Amino acid sequence: MCGIIGYTGEKQAAPILIKGLSSLEYRGYDSTGLAVIDHKHSPYVLKAAGKLSNLKDSIGNKIPDGKIGLGHTRWATHGTPNKTNAHPHTDCTDDIIVVHNGIVENYLEIKKELIDKGHIFQSETDSECIPHLIEEYIKENNSFEAALTSTAKRLQGANAVVLISNNKPAQIAAFRIGYAGGIVIGYGENEMFLASDLAAILPHTRKVAYLSGNEIAFVSPEGPYYIELEGNPIKKSPSIVNYDPLSAAKGEFKHFMLKEIHEQPESMMNTFRGRVKFDRKAVELETLPYSDEEISEIERIVLIGMGTSLHAAMVGRIWIESLAGIPAEIDNSSEFRYREPILGPNTLVISVCQSGETADTLAAMSEASNKGAKQITLCNYPGTQTSRIAESTIQIRAGVEIGVAATKTFTNSLSNLYILALYLGFKRGNITQSYFQKAIEELAHVPAMIGSLVANQGQYVKLAQKYARYSNFLYLGRGINFPLAMEGALKLKEISYIHAEGYPAGEMKHGPISLIDENMPVVSLIPQDNLYEKMLSNISEVKARGGKIIAIATEGDQEVNAKTDNSLFIPKVSNLINPLLMAIPMQLIAYHMGVYRGCDVDQPRNLAKSVTVE
Ligand code: F6R
Repeated sequence: MCGIIGYTGEKQAAPILIKGLSSLEYRGYDSTGLAVIDHKHSPYVLKAAGKLSNLKDSIGNKIPDGKIGLGHTRWATHGTPNKTNAHPHTDCTDDIIVVHNGIVENYLEIKKELIDKGHIFQSETDSECIPHLIEEYIKENNSFEAALTSTAKRLQGANAVVLISNNKPAQIAAFRIGYAGGIVIGYGENEMFLASDLAAILPHTRKVAYLSGNEIAFVSPEGPYYIELEGNPIKKSPSIVNYDPLSAAKGEFKHFMLKEIHEQPESMMNTFRGRVKFDRKAVELETLPYSDEEISEIERIVLIGMGTSLHAAMVGRIWIESLAGIPAEIDNSSEFRYREPILGPNTLVISVCQSGETADTLAAMSEASNKGAKQITLCNYPGTQTSRIAESTIQIRAGVEIGVAATKTFTNSLSNLYILALYLGFKRGNITQSYFQKAIEELAHVPAMIGSLVANQGQYVKLAQKYARYSNFLYLGRGINFPLAMEGALKLKEISYIHAEGYPAGEMKHGPISLIDENMPVVSLIPQDNLYEKMLSNISEVKARGGKIIAIATEGDQEVNAKTDNSLFIPKVSNLINPLLMAIPMQLIAYHMGVYRGCDVDQPRNLAKSVTVE
C-alpha cells in the first residue's frame, strides 16, 4: 500500500514525480504529496488530501524547480486521511524529508521519547517519527549513514522508507526492514529512479535492482551504493526487465476495470504460451523445480492467499484433489501465519498473490519456508518478494492490472492452477493420457468463450438498471462454483458498496434463508454440472419465499430461464472448467452495478491494490 517515487538526475524532478504518482495511485489514494530540492531555497513540500488531481490543482502552472525529489500516494493506516497527515514528512529543521510505506509498530514509544527531547510533531502518523529520529541520531554526532542504520534498527514492523536531505545534494536514501512493500531502483543515464513498484520506473528504464529487507541504498545520478544494517557494503547487480508492461492508458474504455475485463482472452492466451502445447496436447512447466519422483512424494498441498487470490486458491484446491488426487487444504494467509500449521518436506505450499507483496501472504510463506515445506507461488510480476521466498514462481502473465479490483489476474491465477493440477495429475498417473489431452483440447477454446462473454455487455447494463437500488445480495453456488459465489459477492461489495455475501447453496436452510424476501436478490450460479439438480431445488426454495433470482446458467437452459427472474448464460463446458467462464459474469455484474450507482470503480473507497500491511 502507499505508492512511492523518487528521482535524482539532470531533469526537473516534479513532472517525473507527478507522472510516476499517476501510475502508482492505485496503491492508495487517501492523499498525495511531493517534495523537491533545488539547493538555492528551502525544500518545496506540497501535499493534498484525496486524489492526485487535487495535488495537481494546487501546483497549477507553478512547477517547482529542483532536480531531486520524492512523491507519495497514501493509503492511511495511522491518522485520518487529511493534508497534514499526507507524506512527505519532515524533521524539526525541514532538513530530512521522508516518504514511508508500512507501519512503525513502536512509533508511540519513539514519539514520546522524541517529544521529551523537544521534537514537535505536526501529524498523527507513525511515519513522522522517522525524520525526527534521523535528526536525533545525526545530532548525537552520527554521520548521515550511521543515523540511517540506527533509525532502521530502531523501527519495529515492516517498513519501506525513502528520504532526501537538504544537506545531501542529489542523493536519495532508502531502506527496508521486514516485509513491507518493495523498493525498486531504476538505473538511467545520469539519472536514477526509486519506486514502490515497477510501473512507475519502466517508462524511464528497464534496468532495475530490488532492495531486500534490512538493506539501505544511497542513490545519486552517477549510481547507487548499498549497505546492510550493520554498515557492511553489499554488491547488487541490476537486471533487465524483459516483460512488456501493458499500456497504462484506458484507451477506448471508460475504466481500467472494464479494459482489464476485456483483456482476459488475450491475457489467458499469454499465460498458455509456451506452457500449454495445444498441438502436442502437452503441458510444460519448466520452472517447476521438482523431479517426477519428488512430485510423486508430495503427500499434501496447502493453498494460501487473500481476497480474490484466496478464492482462486479455493478453486485450485478442488482441481488439485480431483485431478492430481492429492489431499489439499486451503487457508487464508492471515490465519495460517498465526496458527501452528503442521508442515514438512512432503507438503507443498502454493501461494496465490498477484502483487507479490501482500504482507500476510509473505508472512505465511516465511512460516512455510521455516518449516521446510516445498513452496511455489503464483505472481503477476517478476522479482517480487514472494518470488524470492518461494522455490519457484509461476508467472501468471496477466500484464499490469491498474483497476484496484482484481479481474484478469483472477482468471489468470485460475488458469495456471488448472494447468498445474492437470500437470501434477498426469505426472502422478491420477488421470489418463486421454483425459489429460481432452482437457487441453477444451482449454484451447476458453479464451474465445471469454471473448464472447465480455462482448455481450448490454444485458448487464439492463440488470444494473433493475437491481442497483437493492442494498443486499446473496450469491449462491455449490462445489467448484461456491468460491465463485464468494468472488461475485466480494466484487459487488468492493465496486458498488452493496452488501453481498457468498454462501454454499446447501447452507441456506441452516440460517441464511431467513433473510430471503422481495428485497433480497439472489445471484445463483447454476451451470449444468454434477450439482445442477441440487441447485435447482435450492433456487425453488428461494423463489417460494419471495426472493428474486438472477441465475447464471448454461446456454440454452430453458428450465432455469423459466424459474428465475433474470438469467445470464455461459457456454457449456465440462464441470471442472466452469469457474474460468463463471468469473466473467461475476465481474460484469459488479462493474455495471458500480457504474450505475456512480461509484469510482477503478479506485473504490478505502482500498489499495497491494496490501503491504497486516
Ligand atoms: C479484490 C482484490 C483483493 C486481492 C487481495 C490479494 O478485488 O483485488 O481482494 O485479491 O488483496 O492480493 P494479492 O493477490 O496481491 O495477494
